[in-house]
Amino acid sequence: LQNGLARTPQMGWNSWNFFACNINETVIKETADALISTGLAALGYDYVNIDDCWSSWSRDLKGQLVPDPNTFPSGIKALADYVHSKGLKLGIYSDAGAFTCQVRPGSLFHENDDAALFASWGVDYLKYDNCFNLGIEPQKRYPPMRDALNATGRTIFYSLCEWGVDDPALWAGKVGNSWRTTDDINDTWASMTTIADLNDKWAAYAGPGGWNDPDMLEVGNGGMTYHEYRAHFSIWALMKAPLLIGCDIRNLTAETYEILSNEEVIAVNQDSLGVQGRKISESGTNGCRQVWAGPLSGKRLVVALWNRCSEKVTITAAWSSLGLESSTPVSVRDLWKHEVVMENKVASLSALVEAHTCEIFILTPQTVTHSII
Ligand code: DGJ
Repeated sequence: LQNGLARTPQMGWNSWNFFACNINETVIKETADALISTGLAALGYDYVNIDDCWSSWSRDLKGQLVPDPNTFPSGIKALADYVHSKGLKLGIYSDAGAFTCQVRPGSLFHENDDAALFASWGVDYLKYDNCFNLGIEPQKRYPPMRDALNATGRTIFYSLCEWGVDDPALWAGKVGNSWRTTDDINDTWASMTTIADLNDKWAAYAGPGGWNDPDMLEVGNGGMTYHEYRAHFSIWALMKAPLLIGCDIRNLTAETYEILSNEEVIAVNQDSLGVQGRKISESGTNGCRQVWAGPLSGKRLVVALWNRCSEKVTITAAWSSLGLESSTPVSVRDLWKHEVVMENKVASLSALVEAHTCEIFILTPQTVTHSII
């Protein structure tokens, strides 16, 4: 959606993956505080997004949505003011159906009222879910909220959460700033790898203004190893996925922080070229030795060597598979080691990669220096 937003994938935090319905205004405020105190906000994580369960079980007598008085007694406007005072932005959640997935009131047929209310509260982002959709196709239910948000005069990021129903990449580019390509992620290696493969199919449809959304990050939630989370974060960055942290950032371990704060990997995600990297090759048992790559600004390339095998293996990316001449000398920077590991490398790049992780590199073609003799 060309509304001026999402020139690069959105970054921030969302309450669902860790807290589910156990949210309240204190958690949201403390999360905003933690984004600042950890330095994550300064790295670009600026959306604080409340997911399902913020609202009361029913609308008020005027038909308006009401924040749950037990958990959000100060209201959403006060929360937006607080988040804004920190230089951050506030996201909220509703559903393109009769109810949200946790059976709070939905916004279907209330689009104009609800968008106006969100705008009056100072909301900056809407995630719009797909439960209780009355069997109406998403192509009919999602555009009315786009139009309603647009009519408020406030610029609001519009995140479609239609779970990949009806191949949204094919129609959502004109509707939202991002669209989910799959069902919900869960905090396992199997879920994360499956979702990456499903999202890969739609790479050609992503770009500034609208991104494929393989769902929010599970990094830090405990179901995967450090190495698996490193792969998760590297591939989400390379795929130009939204980087929405899904853990409790008030209690980050050093390892989780190291992953989420990797500025070089974040820069891949936020690169101005805005081209989604994709799977270039797979070999070995069940295709477990994988190369994922994509172009970056300045004629650079990002290359991830992703080991999905159960043992340590060598993975190789040939220049020819990356669209480079074999003789092109390349400088290779390792984004987890934070150093240039090869200069004037030609033909291919190989690395011994630990099981269930990925190494990620930026390749910068170097100018050929001709010998004077
Ligand atoms: C389904 C969505 O896909 C999730 O991300 C989350 O928003 C839940 N609904 C909330 O009920």
